[in-house]
Amino acid sequence: MPPPARSNWQMIKISLYGYLFLLGLTVFRILPKKTLLFGTVLEIFALFVLYRKVIRNQRKVDASTSTSSALQALRTVPDSEVMRVRTSWRNYDPTTPLTVDEIATLQEFLHTPTNMVGPFGHKVDVVLIDSKEVQTGKIGTYGVIRGARWFLCGKFDEAPAATDPTYYYDFGYVFENVILQATRMGLGTCWLGGTFSGKNFNTATGCKGKEVVRMVSPVGHVAGERGGFETFMRAAAGSSHRHPWNTMFYRVEGSALRAIAGPQDAGRFGRTLECVRLAPSASNTQPWALVFHKPLDGPTMVSLWMNERAYTHFRLGENDIGIAMAHFELCAKEAGFRGRFVPASQTPDLNAVLPNARFACVWIENGAA
Ligand SMILES: Cc1cc2nc3c(=O)[nH]c(=O)nc-3n(C[C@H](O)[C@H](O)[C@H](O)COP(=O)(O)O)c2cc1C
Repeated sequence: MPPPARSNWQMIKISLYGYLFLLGLTVFRILPKKTLLFGTVLEIFALFVLYRKVIRNQRKVDASTSTSSALQALRTVPDSEVMRVRTSWRNYDPTTPLTVDEIATLQEFLHTPTNMVGPFGHKVDVVLIDSKEVQTGKIGTYGVIRGARWFLCGKFDEAPAATDPTYYYDFGYVFENVILQATRMGLGTCWLGGTFSGKNFNTATGCKGKEVVRMVSPVGHVAGERGGFETFMRAAAGSSHRHPWNTMFYRVEGSALRAIAGPQDAGRFGRTLECVRLAPSASNTQPWALVFHKPLDGPTMVSLWMNERAYTHFRLGENDIGIAMAHFELCAKEAGFRGRFVPASQTPDLNAVLPNARFACVWIENGAA
């Protein structure tokens, strides 16, 4: 059998190690300086070829999933389909601005109070800004987002949230609902937690006291094709991939915990769990795990956990749990299942079911004790 082909990423690593080795030999004067010059030219060429290959592969994967025309066709489809087609878009068409109607529809969504409160009762303020109208300082995304004019900005007061994670869950939940609303309208979005100029966004949205813009997303008509740098970023984060079912979903059987292998093993919750799996997360870490505590076919109870993959800085892991909650609830509703979320602090008896993970909350289906 032929040996498996090396991935482009492995090749990039090998070429960089080789270059570092050559650099070392030149620094210690084992090789003449001329060799380093030749090696540098060769390395730049190799990285260029590999960069092109990474982009070509990623484009093939993206073309089979979310395309700009697939976004356009979303207006009348169920939420689970909206979630399947949503992906992060970083390349926008500057010649097709948002229409007056689109701006009005987004504003109406943002100003409907029930849309802006999370399951734990915290209100989230999301503001739509036009970067062309910003007076002080240039709002920017360090070149990550191209061609976008409008941004959704999620404001957050860090003071009360310091000791209560439910603020972060609610923020992730509400902002993801806004993202899905924009997707339903055929618009592109991309959660940004790091690559934006925080100070300038804070000023542009009029933050006061301990309030900051915690997350941002461009919103607009996407360019026909993803940009080269964007495609490279998607490949680097593995954005088109998700972890397997059996590392995310479990059910309690007697005193044991059994992994759910796939939709065929998840009974009536197959589609709902697939929607959770497709949710976006910071650097695509997907730090969630779900455990069913009662049989899947009766009124059930599902606990949500934040596992060791979670990003702890900026509490991004807690934000991702809120996103997973939004996907779970919308898809459960679509399938006709009703229930409510209760925070971990009110259901302490479920603690420690899942090792190496932090218990976040539980979804209790109507009729479950
Ligand atoms: C909380 C959060 C923060 C993110 N921050 C950034 C960011 O700063 N820059 C960026 O380019 N993408 C960012 N992303 C996008 C993720 O990389 C992307 O969602 C993930 O790779 C999955 O890809 P998909 O959204 O196309 O499904 C963020 C996503 C989330 C959920």
